Amino acid sequence: MDENKSNAQPIIVAHDIWKSYGKLQVLRGLSLTVYEGETLVILGPSGVGKSVLLRQIIGIEAPDKGYIEIEGERISNMSQKVRFKTIKSMGMLFQGSALFDSMNVEENTAFYLRQHEQYLSEKEIKNRVANALKMVGLEGTQQKMPSDLSGGMRKRAALARLIVYRPRIVLYDEPTTGLDPITAMQINDLINSTQKELKATSIVVTHDIKSAMVVGDRLAFHYDGKIIAIASKEDFLKINEPHVQAFFKNAIITPEYLENCHD
Ligand SMILES: Nc1ncnc2c1ncn2[C@@H]1O[C@H](COP(=O)(O)OP(=O)(O)O)[C@@H](O)[C@H]1O
Ligand SMILES: [Mg+2]
Repeated sequence: MDENKSNAQPIIVAHDIWKSYGKLQVLRGLSLTVYEGETLVILGPSGVGKSVLLRQIIGIEAPDKGYIEIEGERISNMSQKVRFKTIKSMGMLFQGSALFDSMNVEENTAFYLRQHEQYLSEKEIKNRVANALKMVGLEGTQQKMPSDLSGGMRKRAALARLIVYRPRIVLYDEPTTGLDPITAMQINDLINSTQKELKATSIVVTHDIKSAMVVGDRLAFHYDGKIIAIASKEDFLKINEPHVQAFFKNAIITPEYLENCHD
């Protein structure tokens, strides 16, 4: 079922992942491969375990069974040194942005950079922060507090905080949820420009089909604790799988709608 992108290396491999919380079995033998340079979108109804999967991939939580490999190394087997290097190479845009409310935009944006790249001078940090803010269209907002920002601006600031340390793997959890359609489209464009700029491998978790079509190379469908369908964006809509079809049907996808997704 998993279509290989020709020649591309697997960067993220989830193999037969099982994860329960008490009696609640969330991931039930989930397998997934993400190839170098692609943006894989994971679609699925809410509550199926998409955020749980991202937490497994970034290594915040360990599976009960199965394993995650990042660039060929199992997270559970990594030496401290490799583990630290791996953590440094990954960035996650959390649902809800998760900016630090007591820090201004500059301090927020510099946060991971200060943590991970302690050799940088204050001047270099300021420069890199200014560049990252420029990339997301938040030039000159350094002194603003998160409470002064709109929802879309908070998302952008969270993205700047991620871009600034140039991760090779970027995970986005519901990046457009709760945003108005215009702001959501701006975030989609930013995901695409970030991808180009960083030459990253990305996973975007969403239930926004338009966003999936705009940012994804391949689309996967998460259901009942597993990935039950995965295909290129072009082939995904043709998948003859009842849960996938029901998901699209509920979202009222028309040919005109999809046409608009490709602009
Ligand atoms: N830390 C946790 N403790 C207990 N239950 C959790 C925890 N994290 C997630 N869950 C449960 O796992 C299920 C999947 O959650 P989640 O991954 O957040 O879904 P979604 O697909 O909407 O992102 C939900 O029923 C949620 O309540
Ligand atoms: Mg979630």
